[in-house]
Amino acid sequence: MRKDSILIIGANGQIGSVLTTKLQKIYGESQVVATDIKVPKYKQAIFEILDITDQNRLLHIVQKYNITQIYHLAAILSAKGESDPLWAWNVNMQGLMNILEVARSKNLDKIFFPSSIAIFGADTPKTRTPQQTITNPSTVYGISKLAGEKWCQYYHEKYDLDIRSIRYPGIIGHESMPGGGTTDYAVDIYHKAVQKLPFTCFLKSDTKLPMLYMDDAIRATTELMEAPSESIKIRTSYNISGMSFSPAEVAKSIQQHLPDFKINYKPDYRQTIADTWTNSINDNEAKKDWNWKPAYDLQKMTTVMIQELSKKYSTTNNKELINN
Ligand code: NAD
Ligand code: SER
Repeated sequence: MRKDSILIIGANGQIGSVLTTKLQKIYGESQVVATDIKVPKYKQAIFEILDITDQNRLLHIVQKYNITQIYHLAAILSAKGESDPLWAWNVNMQGLMNILEVARSKNLDKIFFPSSIAIFGADTPKTRTPQQTITNPSTVYGISKLAGEKWCQYYHEKYDLDIRSIRYPGIIGHESMPGGGTTDYAVDIYHKAVQKLPFTCFLKSDTKLPMLYMDDAIRATTELMEAPSESIKIRTSYNISGMSFSPAEVAKSIQQHLPDFKINYKPDYRQTIADTWTNSINDNEAKKDWNWKPAYDLQKMTTVMIQELSKKYSTTNNKELINN
């Protein structure tokens, strides 16, 4: 029997860094190859530089480590992508196509590709958005994720590639900083609150978006990847839901712990992006097919975020260590 050998692409990012630790625990450090376009802040057991637009380098790493599974986390997110749409399209689409081709030609066992709530658009039903619905994304990021979902389904149907995907909502965790999304405010707000600083929000007070606590996102990912192949009925990408809240609601939940916390609002171009996304997600298919169930609501997440970040800021004076 072949031993699983895992390749993580975009391993230094907000999700990749936490997922790498989790997969090292599951498979053992010697079985997990972390890669990114940049060197990591913390030493990894096995790390290689990989620009995912370079197919030859990807193939070299897959062969060097006898890779059997890929977790593809590298992408240019919604807000950052709008500053250079053609660059974002190239990284997001060429990167995915390189992985699909290497996975097909090398007969890899399983691939994970994260999609996003950014595939939805202004004419998508806003509340409890169903799995199958109008999409019509407005950002280059959303367009690339929607096209990516379709390519995943195509490679599954045409080549029997076992590729699995989740449409992550905005992800919030204390372990890492986000890298250029529209939902990033919901991480930054906790960092400001525990440092006793006021927070200026780039979204309006009542802009409600779907969100998910990092522990739930990582567990959803590993549960989806461990599910028997025959139970995975959706080969584009699964809706999953954790919680939904607006900036005013998360501020209120923080004020229950830190009553002096202050928020003000200065909406910018990211408001236009958020206005096209939905408020909440219907994840019945994920619940039915692989028993998805979130564990965190806003209140529970706020308690943990404040506890963990307070510890972090009290044990390091180096703000840059946390924020870079
Ligand atoms: P991130 O921006 O924090 O991390 C992305 C990582 O990819 C970075 O470490 C970056 O250095 C790396 N990268 C960028 N260009 C690269 C290239 N050409 N080659 C190799 N690596 C490159 O993003 P994240 O929040 O960790 O997101 C991970 C995945 O999850 C992405 O596909 C993203 O679209 C998806 N997602 C994230 C969220 C969220 O809220 N964080 C929500 C929905 C979907
Ligand atoms: N959190 C992501 C973003 O805001 C959604 O994919 O870009």
